[in-house]
Amino acid sequence: MIHIKKNQKDNLELSIYRYNSSISSYPYMKSYFFQMEKVKGKMLLDLLIQVKKKDPSFSFRMSCGQGVCGSDGMNINGRNGLSCITSVDWLIKRNKKIVIKPLTGFPILKDLIVDLSSFFNQYQKVLPYIIKDQKDIFDKRKNIQKVDSRNQLEGLYECILCACCSSSCPSFWWNEKKFLGPAAILVLYRFLLDDRDHGNDLRLRRLHDHFSVFKCHNIMNCVSFCPKKLNPNKAIRSVKIMLLKHIFKKINKKL
Ligand code: SF4
Ligand code: FES
Repeated sequence: MIHIKKNQKDNLELSIYRYNSSISSYPYMKSYFFQMEKVKGKMLLDLLIQVKKKDPSFSFRMSCGQGVCGSDGMNINGRNGLSCITSVDWLIKRNKKIVIKPLTGFPILKDLIVDLSSFFNQYQKVLPYIIKDQKDIFDKRKNIQKVDSRNQLEGLYECILCACCSSSCPSFWWNEKKFLGPAAILVLYRFLLDDRDHGNDLRLRRLHDHFSVFKCHNIMNCVSFCPKKLNPNKAIRSVKIMLLKHIFKKINKKL
């Protein structure tokens, strides 16, 4: 059992962003202390669960505890990540104080819980599901994916929608309603490459504007912060090329 007690030399300090609009309109940082020998081999999520047990007013999201559900994205010592796969040993090698804040760029609902509506609104815009021609829907042969097409999805299908990338992207902070953001574009690319899908034209023609995809300025924070080690920037660059080809094709048809 990890004990939360007042600061002592050699204790680990976990400083957590706290905000509850029903009590105060001001956020504050609250520190919780752990005996160093009791945190060895733990994940950060284990410490947050201990804090929750001692201080039930503390709120955060979690579900799977193993890097699958994407619900515990947060800012850990200035970097976005998932608490369930962040080793405390790794963190304390650098500092005996760990600072936890909510994901940047989203409205804060309570403590570490942010409102991800803008993130999921943009995700919905890319139509993140297989779109089939009506005539093929019941043709089982056309639902079989080719091996090459499946292989192209490596590094794309693993996205767990944790929002760590979009939360670290300045283009998304300033244009959350117009720029799709790195996660949504990575998912878009995943469906553009799928050979079972017939929705490329439908998806791309909705994105003929300056913001949806082209607002990415290659800042690359998305690549640095993705806890699944994916590369949204590479996907964005490919989507930009596909989108440009699609735009030129439409222009040529009109000429
Ligand atoms: Fe999370 Fe990575 Fe997907 Fe972005 S690309 S939502 S950081 S898993
Ligand atoms: Fe599910 Fe961390 S709790 S990804």
